[in-house]
Amino acid sequence: MSNVLTKHEPDSAFSNPGLPPHKHRLSDLDEKAAKRAERQVAGLFTISILAAIAGLVGYFLFPAGQTLLGIRLGTTVLGLGLGLGMLGIGLGAVHWAKSLMSDVEVVDERHELKSDEETRAAAVEKINAGIKDSNIARRQLLKGTLLGALVLAPLTFVLPLVGNLSSTWNFRVLTKTAWRNTPTGAMGRRLATDPEGRLIRAADVTNNSVFHVIPHDLGNLPGEDHYLEEKAKAMVLLVRIEPSELNTSAGREDWNYHGIIAFSKVCTHVGCPVSLYEQSTKHLLCPCHQSTFDLADEAKVIFGPAKRALPQLPISVDDEGYLIATSDFHEPVGPSYWERLK
Ligand code: FES
Repeated sequence: MSNVLTKHEPDSAFSNPGLPPHKHRLSDLDEKAAKRAERQVAGLFTISILAAIAGLVGYFLFPAGQTLLGIRLGTTVLGLGLGLGMLGIGLGAVHWAKSLMSDVEVVDERHELKSDEETRAAAVEKINAGIKDSNIARRQLLKGTLLGALVLAPLTFVLPLVGNLSSTWNFRVLTKTAWRNTPTGAMGRRLATDPEGRLIRAADVTNNSVFHVIPHDLGNLPGEDHYLEEKAKAMVLLVRIEPSELNTSAGREDWNYHGIIAFSKVCTHVGCPVSLYEQSTKHLLCPCHQSTFDLADEAKVIFGPAKRALPQLPISVDDEGYLIATSDFHEPVGPSYWERLK
């Protein structure tokens, strides 16, 4: 005999077994067990609150950008706060649903995938019934702790985000770099090789040689507490080109020293460090999206998505023959949209 149904066999061959009898949970039958579950859920939400507070305290205690240890501690504490904050909310919500919300089986007959006013009204009614079912209005402890957890946990990622937006994304930060700081009595901030920190004599810069440069003694003058941030903004590429090959516009005649020129290494597209210099063409290439700058022509863009020339650092030499910056950049370094905000 075949087990396969033919279309002539009546549907009644399958009888609807219906739902198994509903089993009540302990928390449904015993108010003490319900209270215990409520305290457990509240405990999980409280763990979330405490973790979020610890994360936020860590964020303010170990501000990023000062020391490597500070960055590590700050990100670790913040990450733990964020993780435990979210975990507490998640576990609390699951435990709440499993032990305190109604678990009565409900059968909802399938209907046309079309909703009319009546259906929508019924849906709203069901949602309201669900809210009522969750007993949130009656269980004030749960309501309070859940609210606290939901408010505090997101702060662990919102605050750092806002902090970054207000500092890194503030274009005014990019209008000033450490090159503006001149040690007392000096003619200008000396240039030093990166990472060695060696001073550079003009006589040592031969034609077509390339130096990666930062301000000498960076981090030790007032206002230079955030070393990494200051370094990122002040990075410069120094090259020497035959003066007769340089195209210099009016007002910039004294920005180079016998063909030694210095330009910001922060790409004016979206800020990658430009560093691939081709001696024969005098072109400087950004590895990120291939913007190409012509150093012989004031680092103007000759190819790629960048819209603005690299800012030039005016340089000269001091009494001892060391290269110095005679001023800061004359425009913001970095992506060109900062400039448009001026
Ligand atoms: S960041 Fe340099 S080309 Fe895009």
